[in-house]
Amino acid sequence: MAELLNGQKRTHMCGELSTAHVGQEVTLMGWVHRRRDLGGLIFLQLRDRSGISQVVFDTDVCTKDLLEKASTIKLEYVVSVVGKVRMRVGNNINKNMKTGEIEVVAEQLAILSEADTTPFSVGDDGANESLRLKYRYLDLRREKLQYNLVTRSKICQITRNYLADLGFLEIETPMLGKSTPEGARDYLVPSRVHPGSFYALPQSPQIYKQLLMIGGMDRYFQIAKCFRDEDLRANRQPEFTQIDLEMSFVDQEEEVMTVTEGLLRKMFKEIRNVDLPEKFLRMPWKQAMDLYGSDKPDLRFGLEIQNLDETVKDSSFVVFQNALKDGGTVRAIVLPEGADKLSRKDLDKLVDFVKAYRAKGLAWYGLGKDGTKCSFAKAVTAEELQAISSALNMKQGDIALIVADSSWNTAVVSLGALRCHLASKFQLYKAGDFAALWVVDFPLFEYSEEEQRYVAMHHPFTSPKNEDLQYMRTDPSRVRAKAYDVVINGDEIGGGSMRIYNRDVQKLMFETLGFSDEQIADRFGFFVDAFKYGTPPHGGLALGLDRLVMVLTDTLNIKDVIAFPKMQNASCMMTEAPAPVDDKQLDELKIKCEEQDD
Ligand code: AMO
Repeated sequence: MAELLNGQKRTHMCGELSTAHVGQEVTLMGWVHRRRDLGGLIFLQLRDRSGISQVVFDTDVCTKDLLEKASTIKLEYVVSVVGKVRMRVGNNINKNMKTGEIEVVAEQLAILSEADTTPFSVGDDGANESLRLKYRYLDLRREKLQYNLVTRSKICQITRNYLADLGFLEIETPMLGKSTPEGARDYLVPSRVHPGSFYALPQSPQIYKQLLMIGGMDRYFQIAKCFRDEDLRANRQPEFTQIDLEMSFVDQEEEVMTVTEGLLRKMFKEIRNVDLPEKFLRMPWKQAMDLYGSDKPDLRFGLEIQNLDETVKDSSFVVFQNALKDGGTVRAIVLPEGADKLSRKDLDKLVDFVKAYRAKGLAWYGLGKDGTKCSFAKAVTAEELQAISSALNMKQGDIALIVADSSWNTAVVSLGALRCHLASKFQLYKAGDFAALWVVDFPLFEYSEEEQRYVAMHHPFTSPKNEDLQYMRTDPSRVRAKAYDVVINGDEIGGGSMRIYNRDVQKLMFETLGFSDEQIADRFGFFVDAFKYGTPPHGGLALGLDRLVMVLTDTLNIKDVIAFPKMQNASCMMTEAPAPVDDKQLDELKIKCEEQDD
């Protein structure tokens, strides 16, 4: 029978006891993590958020009744224990446990809550993921998840303190609003009062934070929930959190970047005791793409992409010839000591790997122990191979992996992906390495084949670089944005930009994007209007809080840093959301659902 707490107070957390407490009487409360019954002696491991302490029921000390009560206890019961801390002796000492040098000799025990047998053993991270998500509250008792959520909370505290000290105000913006310009699909909420009309949940607070600047708030931040109905990946959730900020009276990217660097440095120092550089590397987007085939390069390892265009311009190999003839390029990465490490079968798999990134194939040339191996040896001369290996600075044992393609983008992106694949396969970086950088000078526009027009790469309120304004009408593809992404270990942790605050530039931007006046008025009318009444130069950025927690806790799955995450198909295993609703609710909303074919 469960007992009442009756005002009893916990004196210590389970994980904080140490030899300093020996001889003290303590009251612990927590869950029974393990239990060992040796007849006259019962050991319990008692667990709370801070860790585990061993409690011992010893016939020499405790009454028969107490021992009997202790013998009824099962795993995951919630109990309170009063007892004295003593040193463990001999074999009982557990060096692997934080509290392994002491134990609590129980004098009183109260069973506060009994527990049925749990659907999986608490602490078993090998249990099936859907089962763990269905019983998320049990999974949350796991040490790793507790650590992740504690770290997440610390990150939020550090953020609040750091930004408040710099004069940023924490301001909430609405969840029920109008579509924002981030470009993913919206989550819509039907209005009962206005049948047929819908609110959009924010994809980000972008519009509101700019309006806050126009409203004179000067510096804003928010730990903001964002909603995007997009395909999920290991680092994406439909509902995620941003550390969102915006500052007035700035027009240089540097000013937002410096504030962000300070914040990230503080987080890494306080959480990992790692000193990130005072100033992160700034890498232009084009260079990131050329060298790493990605706008979020992982700089923990080398394997940079190299350009072979000049070397193979007169090649007799038709694959190289065709790529160059079609205005394309021939690029390569060199895997040190890869010639012997990669078997023929491995290489075939790498060919398939790059094909998934639209490359037509992968050529290789390796300087192995037992001679060279080359997928295109028959098509070229020995001199040409020599020229390739010397252009790529290859050493004995290295292998060059080459993609020739009529599209520069396909060549670099497929090699960029291959580079990361090989680095992870051959462990070219180690846990605890952190490489942070800014990717800057993004193109302002990208051409959408689907829509047959230019679209904004970030959003339509991102400012062009002053010196590129001249190309807005003549050659939009040349215009670079005052935009920046912060990247850590190959993950886009955040991004932002300086905003347009000049009406003529905004007009030019909308023209280039092909928006008619009606479209502008319809989508952003209230926003564009606001700019008429005095707009300070402003800019900002948003960090993906979930991704930041992942990096800081060495977690690969975004679900493990969110208390109640969604599955890959955006559903919640525990609450079974989304779920059908009552007809009455639909009637009130004047919504009729079509029958779904199974
Ligand atoms: P952006 O769209 O780049 O910028 O988002 C900022 C950061 O949010 C994180 N992020 C996500 N995290 C988890 N799941 C998702 N589905 C997801 N989508 C984005 C990323 C990303 O870098 N309003 C602008 C910011 C600005 O210009 O100030 C914005 O939202 O880490």
